Amino acid sequence: TSIQEIDPTKLGITKTTTPKGLLPPEELIFGRNFTDHMLSLEWTASQGWLPARITPYQNLSLDPATCVFHYAFEAFEGMKAYKDKEGNVRLFRPERNMARLNKSSARLALPTFDGDAMIDLIGKFVKLDQRFIPEARGYSLYIRPTMIGTQRTLGVGPPASALLYVIASPVGPYYPTGFKAVSLEATDYAVRAWPGGVGDKKLGANYAPCIVPQMEAASRGFHQNLWLFGEEEYVTEVGTMNLFAAVKNKETGQKELLTAPLDGTILEGVTRDSVLTLARERLEPQGWKVSERKFTMQELADASDEGRMMEIFGAGTAAVVSPVRKIGWKGRMVDCGLPDHTEAGPIAQQMKDWIEGIQYGDEEGHPWSYKL
Ligand code: COI
Repeated sequence: TSIQEIDPTKLGITKTTTPKGLLPPEELIFGRNFTDHMLSLEWTASQGWLPARITPYQNLSLDPATCVFHYAFEAFEGMKAYKDKEGNVRLFRPERNMARLNKSSARLALPTFDGDAMIDLIGKFVKLDQRFIPEARGYSLYIRPTMIGTQRTLGVGPPASALLYVIASPVGPYYPTGFKAVSLEATDYAVRAWPGGVGDKKLGANYAPCIVPQMEAASRGFHQNLWLFGEEEYVTEVGTMNLFAAVKNKETGQKELLTAPLDGTILEGVTRDSVLTLARERLEPQGWKVSERKFTMQELADASDEGRMMEIFGAGTAAVVSPVRKIGWKGRMVDCGLPDHTEAGPIAQQMKDWIEGIQYGDEEGHPWSYKL
């Protein structure tokens, strides 16, 4: 599938006649409330992308035989818009989300699109609904671009029509009372992704099968599950986030920040990339080693047992970072180095502060912050 033209100047706008009331920020629950409008683009194999439309937020009407319902022709993105001190609206690295949605779509034989044109359209949609973006720190507008196959057929083949739509949900801080370090259960009976699979794509079909292992972990008192891979028990991801560990080297004592490499089984997280880039830029000069490499659960357990484990945290758009206190593995508990009564390690806290500083425009002129 090649990149196909979207003409962002051809945008039809129908504004709502029944604007919604705004919820008090403290009542916002992640992904439950939506703004007044949505952005939609239809695609057909014969005509390509039709002009974009902004309409009131509304139900879709799809034939029961539409291919998305049967064969999971669906890919999505998660990105956020922020309001800065001056009231400007800012996106965070939106070109990364567009690039990833194109990769995900291409893998499903769904159409690709010009990312810059789409950022332009998303910008117009977000500006129209900007009154929904809470001003306070920690609050943002979660944006959900969604690509679905819309051909009405039970035949298994490339969809001849598709819909790319974008909805937006005002959200609060993931942890309203500040960080809460979570406990993880290492899942040993299911895998999230495998070599040659689609674990590096953001497909809806990758997420539904994660719920049962998450519920299993919860039934034993853990907040989330940790995804391992293979007989070696390589550490891959946590729940729906990438995972970082900070450990001291056994021989040299050098501090190392590590995360799994992008070998096709790891979601190419925007926050993951941001943590890595900032670590290389700002921690390496302080003597840190920053590694994208395979590491095993045994390696983490050894570091913990030998007092070399500094901290572990998840990284994703929704929470930015999510500190980990302990991991249940093989009938034992692996301590992740957080002192009692401390909810975040210094690196997780530092990363959150750096990334939010850029997202909210405190770090003036940073190239990752896209002012609308
Ligand atoms: C994230 O932003 O970390 C996610 O992947 C969560 C999203 C699927 C709700």
